[in-house]
Amino acid sequence: MIEQLKETTAFLKQHTADFVPEFGIILGTGLGDLVNELEVQFTLSYDTIPNFPIATVESHNGRLIFGMLADRKVVVMQGRFHYYEGYTMEQVVFPVRVMERIGIKKLFVSNAAGGLNPRFNTGDLMVLTDHINLQPSNPLIGKNYDELGPRFPDMSEVYDETLVRQAMVIAEDEGFELQEGVYVSVPGPMLETKAEYRYLTIIGADAVGMSTVPEVIVARHMELPVFAVSVITDMCTPDKIKKVLLADILDAAAQAEPKMALLIRELIRRQ
Ligand code: HPA
Repeated sequence: MIEQLKETTAFLKQHTADFVPEFGIILGTGLGDLVNELEVQFTLSYDTIPNFPIATVESHNGRLIFGMLADRKVVVMQGRFHYYEGYTMEQVVFPVRVMERIGIKKLFVSNAAGGLNPRFNTGDLMVLTDHINLQPSNPLIGKNYDELGPRFPDMSEVYDETLVRQAMVIAEDEGFELQEGVYVSVPGPMLETKAEYRYLTIIGADAVGMSTVPEVIVARHMELPVFAVSVITDMCTPDKIKKVLLADILDAAAQAEPKMALLIRELIRRQ
């Protein structure tokens, strides 16, 4: 794995004229539009990058984009890898380890999620203050790579509290409501039953999705500060639950996209 990291890092440096990004951004389902705000310098399709997982049919655009956002150097993953697509956890998180190796100092993550907290509404943004990992595995199982981080990494402050506070200030300045809460990561790919939604609420989650936590675990293993935000694409509370179609999730994500893009851009400007 370390050899692969070295190879991929060398390839990226060679193809980006040694571009050293300060920040990494992972864009989730239906949230690819932040890319329109970038001054793009280099774009590499995942399938041209050595050791990147081969995309399955379902996966998103699949491009690594290097450029400027709010006059800062960033690298953006447009599309991520999910465990439900059949990748190993090590493959799911490989790009995060690569981004750290090419220089990022902070990681920003977005995703689409179902709302469990009855105060939420479709289209809301929720800043993650903590998470619960219900994925059937995690990327740190197996040999520990001591050069990346410790065997037993601390998870007492997974999401950087300064970044959370800055996000709340930005939302207030810009006049939109920003929810805060706990994200639970489930394997999917099916959406949850009513009983499962009830269970996830009881164990303390405010939103549920199928991503993010594996990537965040390896980022924290490497001690990268992390900020993550969910777009609430459907409500899962007993009074609001209805049949969820992928098209509805994408619609809701698209509607929330401008807010999400603004939040991440302004947050990066303030670093
Ligand atoms: N459950 C799990 N993942 C999701 C959901 C949901 O309701 N909505 C968007 N991603």
